[in-house]
Amino acid sequence: MTDDLTLVVVTPECTRHYRVPAVPGMTLLDALLLVQEREDPGLSLNWNCRTAQCGICAVSADGVPTLACMSAVRAGCSYEVAPILPARHLRGLVCDLSEVYRDFFAATARRGKERVKKERFETLLITPLGDEQQC
Ligand code: FES
Repeated sequence: MTDDLTLVVVTPECTRHYRVPAVPGMTLLDALLLVQEREDPGLSLNWNCRTAQCGICAVSADGVPTLACMSAVRAGCSYEVAPILPARHLRGLVCDLSEVYRDFFAATARRGKERVKKERFETLLITPLGDEQQC
């Protein structure tokens, strides 16, 4: 096992492989931002809160819709990261999530006084990568 992890970023434009030095507690978003900072400034991705509140960092990781800011990654593993389709693809890993938000808030409104909470957002739309994920 190495101290690196591998990201395979698959977008409609291209497929790129990156090796990233892994650190304990690193998230998929951390790894993607490291790639953007050090290796590929053209890598397009969205993020904002880093606390599972906004949902804007949603991507497909190994085929699973997930929040990049909440997904732990580990040294020695490889992760295939892609835009979260079928949302309309814009560029790189960025998709137009307006329809997802609209559906989510409409569903929340139908349930009456329930507040929008990250757990509900994750339950409805996103399945975080578990700690037990095999690589
Ligand atoms: S950055 Fe807001 S949910 Fe990930």
